[in-house]
Amino acid sequence: MTLPNSSAIDGSPDRPVRIGLLGCGTVGQAFVRTISGQGETIARASGRRLEIGPILVRDTSKPRDGIDLRQLTTDPQDVLRDPTVDLIVEVMGGVEPTGTYLRQALQAGLPVVTANKQLLSRHGAELLALAQSSGTELRFEASACAGIPVIKVLRESLLAAEIFAVTGIVNGTTNYILSEMSRGGMSYADALAQAQALGYAEADPSEDVGGADAAAKMAILASIAFHTNVHFDDVPFEGIDGLHGEDFDLAKDLGFVIKLLGVARLVDGGISVRVHPALVPESHRLAAVRGADNAVLLESGTVRQIMLVGPGAGGTETASAVLADVLSILGTAQGSFLQNALADAGRPLLSPDQTESAFYVRLRVVDRPGVLARIATVFANSGLSIRSVIQRGEGDGARLVLVTHMGSEARMNAALDAMRDMEEVRGEPVLLRLLAEEGA
Ligand code: NAP
Ligand code: HSE
Repeated sequence: MTLPNSSAIDGSPDRPVRIGLLGCGTVGQAFVRTISGQGETIARASGRRLEIGPILVRDTSKPRDGIDLRQLTTDPQDVLRDPTVDLIVEVMGGVEPTGTYLRQALQAGLPVVTANKQLLSRHGAELLALAQSSGTELRFEASACAGIPVIKVLRESLLAAEIFAVTGIVNGTTNYILSEMSRGGMSYADALAQAQALGYAEADPSEDVGGADAAAKMAILASIAFHTNVHFDDVPFEGIDGLHGEDFDLAKDLGFVIKLLGVARLVDGGISVRVHPALVPESHRLAAVRGADNAVLLESGTVRQIMLVGPGAGGTETASAVLADVLSILGTAQGSFLQNALADAGRPLLSPDQTESAFYVRLRVVDRPGVLARIATVFANSGLSIRSVIQRGEGDGARLVLVTHMGSEARMNAALDAMRDMEEVRGEPVLLRLLAEEGA
């Protein structure tokens, strides 16, 4: 079928890139909000403006934040055949009719970005071949681990890294439920309801708790990591719905936490991919991944271990990965921002004096009345607030440690100069900066 718009994205930087959206639920609405909220940043960094064109939904009367109702349609051809659309973003989910729509778009030469692991884990190889033969692109970063850029890392940075294992927490909903249950915060049912309310769960949450969602993601990750097509049906999976409360307590007594893991390995040249709940030692890096966060531990012959951690579900987080794919597609054009151009936002560089930290200062002082008060006055005069103080007697002197709240380097340097001038201070004060919650 030849569609009205079968051209690649118009290279003219003056014309906005118009996006046809399939689906406008949790991720779709967040994507529209992101495009509108970050429009200036996107334009400055990529040299292109993005705009949302027609949007396919099931029900045009549903309230949707920040969406112009006139853009909504229930006819997919209003999106797929719109001659002004440059690129399709698919965030409706499911295998059909979505697969049919994406085939139509790709055959027409339209680039496609999708968050759809259900479809990719079953028809990814065929859709990629179709994109290739149509001379266009299919990108799917958000289909595994939402906001974590793991697919791009595997496809580009680690393409030749001889990955032999991919072990991950790849479902945000179940990790959220397990985290809440293990800290005794919520029951299974309440935690699942909360994950649904927060937009983490699939339209059918049994996909999450039964392990199918994680299996789909592991099929996608294993396909890319091992350069071999792994189909959803190749991945045996178990979910968390069969776990018993007593196993959480027993695991804890034994020094483990229970996580839903995806495990993909090269074994004797073959590929094994599975999803199941597993006991993870409390000291393991994966044990510390909590809430809706995901993590993927990549093991490789060349770079040993790389672990990527970040948001594994959520509208805004997923929309960020979808946007990244859109920008990657724009970036593949000759002379685009990804081809050697450095975006210049014209932001001033701060001098070291302007940067802020909390500080740890260690001093040797003579042990005599009023010394601590004089040191405290130096900090006060420099505008630095003291958070804690330790004083330890050492022979005829004392070791004094002061930890401050956040303050500028300039203030700290002034305080150090004043202390160096004090005859009660012996030797050079030692200064360290704290990794504070507000920044380092
Ligand atoms: P959602 O909230 O259920 O939204 C789905 C949207 O698609 C809705 O706007 C719905 O229309 C529309 N839609 C569904 N079937 C349709 C059909 N047959 N025809 C027309 N419109 C249809 O789902 P979501 O959470 O945004 O997820 C979307 C996709 O992103 C899924 O593939 C999901 O696996 C993936 N994903 C989600 C997350 C997340 O955290 N939520 C993270 C990563 C990936 P109505 O609004 O009219 O019902
Ligand atoms: N339902 C999925 C999850 C969304 O909870 O991980 C991200 O793919």
